[in-house]
Amino acid sequence: MEKPKNIFAIVGPKGGVGKSTISANLAIALSELGKKVIAVDLDLGTSNLHAIFGIREYKYTLDDFVFNRVRNLSDIVLDTEINNLGIICGGDVPGIANMAYQKKLKLIRHLSKLDCDLVLLDLAPGASYNVVDFSIIAQRGLLVTTPEVPSLLNVYSFIKATVFRRLTFYFKHNKCVELLELLEKAKDFDNYPHLNTMEGLLGKAREINSDMADSARKILSGLKPFVVINRVFTKSDAGAGEVIQKLMRQYLSIDSGVIMTIREDKAVKNAIARMKPIMIDAPRSMFSRDIKQIAATLFK
Ligand SMILES: Nc1ncnc2c1ncn2[C@@H]1O[C@H](COP(=O)(O)OP(=O)(O)O)[C@@H](O)[C@H]1O
Ligand SMILES: [Mg+2]
Repeated sequence: MEKPKNIFAIVGPKGGVGKSTISANLAIALSELGKKVIAVDLDLGTSNLHAIFGIREYKYTLDDFVFNRVRNLSDIVLDTEINNLGIICGGDVPGIANMAYQKKLKLIRHLSKLDCDLVLLDLAPGASYNVVDFSIIAQRGLLVTTPEVPSLLNVYSFIKATVFRRLTFYFKHNKCVELLELLEKAKDFDNYPHLNTMEGLLGKAREINSDMADSARKILSGLKPFVVINRVFTKSDAGAGEVIQKLMRQYLSIDSGVIMTIREDKAVKNAIARMKPIMIDAPRSMFSRDIKQIAATLFK
């Protein structure tokens, strides 16, 4: 499947790490860079993106599109008070968090056709197929975590799940049954410890089908995980990124990740109390400055 060119996904294996806060404010930062942006709440069932924008009333949600009550996704885009920025509110039906693949493809198709430069997806926490699929289909995924070690390890697992899902798609597409079996074995560390690193896995894959193994390596070198470590408080917090970088290098042979940080900032709470996104309430706060830097890096 061809990748839509204009979709960014904000993902994080854990809830409460700041995905929605970052999605909303990054959308504003990107709109300030002159992009026409639509932010979409895909944290279905526990959606709160609209609340961060201070929006209390809205007519349509994603449910209306998913259940065919409106024809076009553009019918449910809500204007915000911010120039160049629209939002799509999440639905209330948790069932669509496990949307069928065809429905998901339809949604992706419509998302990439929205009349804007950029679509930003605020995704549900976790590494379920749905979340991973949306993040793979997006042109870029932003992985959000806090600096605590368990969260960092979760992010690493998420990246690993994405890598495996990507390779599974590829081998399936090329009907390479033996390589699919190899991927399954690699998940079973006790019986196949030598497949524990990507080097071990690709070495074995080369014995089976060297062309496919080389293509797989190319796919890996095209993956550029973008990790945002949020709520950074101390110097050692800021160094947390190295933990992930090291794991990616050692086990997944991925050397091209970008890691950025956002500082812990009381201004976030103040903005919520005033029912405004912090980028509007406190544009010069630490949080807002860090967000602007991330927005700029995305377009470097
Ligand atoms: N950098 C930060 N500094 C202070 N508070 C933050 C920061 N980032 C997020 N928060 C707070 O953390 C909580 C969870 O954020 P939220 O964006 O809802 O997370 P998620 O969408 O990942 O569940 C919110 O109360 C939010 O205001
Ligand atoms: Mg959220």
